[in-house]
Amino acid sequence: MSVLGLSCTRCNAQYPIGPLFYGCPACHKKGLGGALTVVYDYPAIAKTLDREAWGRHSHSIWRFKDLLPVQDPAFQISLGEGNTALVQPRVVCETAGLPRLYIKNETTNPTWAFKDRFHASSISMAKAMGYTKVTASTTGNHGASTAAYSAAAGMKTCAILCHPESSPLQRNIIRMYGGHAFVLENRYQYLETFVNDHGFYPSTTMEPMPVGTPFGIEGYKTIAFEVYAQLGGKTPDRMFFPIAAGDVLYGPWKGFRELKQLGIADRLPVLHGIQPAGCNPYVQSFRQGLHDVITHPDPRSIALSIRDDMGGRPALEALYESGGDASDVSEEEIVEAVHLLARSGFLVEPSSAASVAGAVKAGRQGRISRDDTVVCIVTGSGAKWPEVVEKLVPSPTPVEPTWDDICRELGL
Ligand SMILES: Cc1ncc(COP(=O)(O)O)c(C=O)c1O
Ligand SMILES: [Zn+2]
Repeated sequence: MSVLGLSCTRCNAQYPIGPLFYGCPACHKKGLGGALTVVYDYPAIAKTLDREAWGRHSHSIWRFKDLLPVQDPAFQISLGEGNTALVQPRVVCETAGLPRLYIKNETTNPTWAFKDRFHASSISMAKAMGYTKVTASTTGNHGASTAAYSAAAGMKTCAILCHPESSPLQRNIIRMYGGHAFVLENRYQYLETFVNDHGFYPSTTMEPMPVGTPFGIEGYKTIAFEVYAQLGGKTPDRMFFPIAAGDVLYGPWKGFRELKQLGIADRLPVLHGIQPAGCNPYVQSFRQGLHDVITHPDPRSIALSIRDDMGGRPALEALYESGGDASDVSEEEIVEAVHLLARSGFLVEPSSAASVAGAVKAGRQGRISRDDTVVCIVTGSGAKWPEVVEKLVPSPTPVEPTWDDICRELGL
């Protein structure tokens, strides 16, 4: 059995695998967020690791089962997530002046977002622990994925607490999967009641001292395993992530650390966490050299999915450890990145484009070398946000245009 238990990322206390939803109980008692992380028996894994299985073409994160928390195949839920393309977006590469820039296109996951890696692992753990009711708080993507994997796992009830600005399409998608979508301003108090009084499994970050779901974050490690293999057994020089809770950054960081620990990779990437300038708690915390993320008093941005007013300590520590940074991008830079990606052939939502906006900005400012291999995580599809696409589309679709109108539009 390669899973040893849970360890606190703040105080290193060790616990057996179990439903410790508020993080480390010792830290929680002191009013601190002690995010837990799954610990494995790495020397044992190094001896038995089936790396051939990693290379096999399979749309499921479970080909990396040696480094995932659910080891019994009976509980390993999959909708065919992962194995996403690592591709070069032509117009982005040209604009940034970065010929070795790639995107990891997570929009092709089953619910069109990287979140599916999280829930494949998290909901499998919920099933393994005997839960039949699941809840999550969401701006859209997270809840859609929770509902899809709850359906796949045969969960009896899935209650999703939606941000008031979440897209109506996302809420309908949740309902189509059999979930219940409730639009609520203060979602945390409901989350607590579901968990504490009604036996729900929270597949979500717990507040008020944000701690991620350790079992979900394990799923994100598979981004690192795939990127490493797709680059022909190499670590990229730099990686750019759009961050909110920060799990999307901490997960792959842990994955790369494990590759190094197992003697597979010889080095770690430099990480860049990107946030909107109107909601940048990591950036402010990083600039002040803090070790906990401050709360942003008045978050504003078109990038709703990364408009979180707080964040978690593990991602902030990962930025320091990797020698990277947290930096912000303006609304104009985010929108420009959406268009650069679209003109390259990729339709993404603004939050998703923030990683690319950060890389383009760094490239233009000459802060990164043209020779660097750069990977931007492109997290979610634009297709789930019709209202945003409508706002950003360069010109409205002409209805019954005259021949003159057509010639003018085409420049004939
Ligand atoms: C499209 C998109 N990008 C990035 C993020 C940020 O992920 P994390 O909260 O793990 O930092 C989210 C989170 O909801 C998202 O939906
Ligand atoms: Zn602790």
